Amino acid sequence: MTKFDVQLGERSYPIYIGKNIREEPTHLSRHVHGGTVFIISNDKVAPLYLDAILNNCRKYICHHLILPDGEIYKSLDTMNLIYSALLKNHCDRDTTLIALGGGVIGDITGFAAATYQRGVNFIQIPTTLLAQVDSSVGGKTGVNHVLGKNMIGAFYQPQCVIADLSTLNTLEDRELSAGIAEIIKYGLIGDAEFFVWLEHNINQLLARDSNALAYAVQVSCKNKAQIVAEDELEQTGKRALLNYGHTFGHAIETSAGYGNWIHGEAVACGMLMAASLSMKLGWATEQDYRRIAKLLEIAKLPTEPPEDMQATEFKNLMAIDKKTRSGTLHLVLLKGIGKAVLTSEFPAPLLEDVLREFCKL
Ligand code: NAD
Ligand code: GLY
Repeated sequence: MTKFDVQLGERSYPIYIGKNIREEPTHLSRHVHGGTVFIISNDKVAPLYLDAILNNCRKYICHHLILPDGEIYKSLDTMNLIYSALLKNHCDRDTTLIALGGGVIGDITGFAAATYQRGVNFIQIPTTLLAQVDSSVGGKTGVNHVLGKNMIGAFYQPQCVIADLSTLNTLEDRELSAGIAEIIKYGLIGDAEFFVWLEHNINQLLARDSNALAYAVQVSCKNKAQIVAEDELEQTGKRALLNYGHTFGHAIETSAGYGNWIHGEAVACGMLMAASLSMKLGWATEQDYRRIAKLLEIAKLPTEPPEDMQATEFKNLMAIDKKTRSGTLHLVLLKGIGKAVLTSEFPAPLLEDVLREFCKL
């Protein structure tokens, strides 16, 4: 098992990464400070992993809530269900919420923790590759609105993250690839050496080689922890780099209907579109673009938006992105592999060219 900290002063917390670590009660007991835990999971993950967590929680008063599975349940309606369950079970401010699942469960549970009785502790036990390398780390919590992805939420850090690599064995191939998309992102935005490692080891990752997965999760979490430590609240532009490909990707997710394109897939396509704009600006080379496209394709990730998505719809949806400031769209673009920048310095017609080239309509 490896452990390292997200350095945030008095709100610092550890990330534990290892195999079967969900079965070790010590991690939980170090980070549960009151006498009550409330586990939130979904009907796909709970049958697989809830018993092990319940077993580790025998010394606490322990409640759980099993939500239906799916991105469409990342909503304010679900938040209400959670608040009702917490209140009905008389959960007080000493309760620790535990998120057991992928990014949807992690984001919802974190937001419930941020808001229930003005804030209670929570622990992340991410069970998808995407959640282990990205969403469980850094304290972005929230839900979707019908008009925009992740539009309602809060920054709220967990007490710890317990990333058990063994849970990845039950993940569907499509979800594994979605996690690989976010892993590739770290290479693109700031770690050219890791990108080269990915080019050489992508087939091992797809085959779920445990050493390759462990290395990729560790490097990704270290990259993310470093960025979050530098710019926790996304104020300096540093953390915004983690959204490489996301402005395009969120537009795809919103257009396709939440859950039809999964997050990592939409981000993959978005990363290539952002690379295309970077190339048109002369900031990235054609060779960079080809390397990115090739790696995404080998990782079985989509490189074209939904067939029925129109360029104009794309543009309108991108305009409500959270990186829009005073009406000006900011995008994360590449100045080569391993060097991302947040910028509004791109001619609008060039972005329109990219949208037209990628959209069939
Ligand atoms: P998800 O939570 O929907 O999980 C994907 C699927 O895998 C679901 O069907 C889930 O039930 C299932 N699953 C989970 N663990 C499993 C396991 N071990 N075995 C078998 N099936 C399992 O999706 P995700 O890709 O984990 O997360 C996507 C969400 O995360 C999106 O809502 C996205 O906006 C959010 N996100 C948040 C951040 C952040 O910083 N907070 C970062 C990236 C993404
Ligand atoms: N996933 C983007 C961020 O955590 O900032």
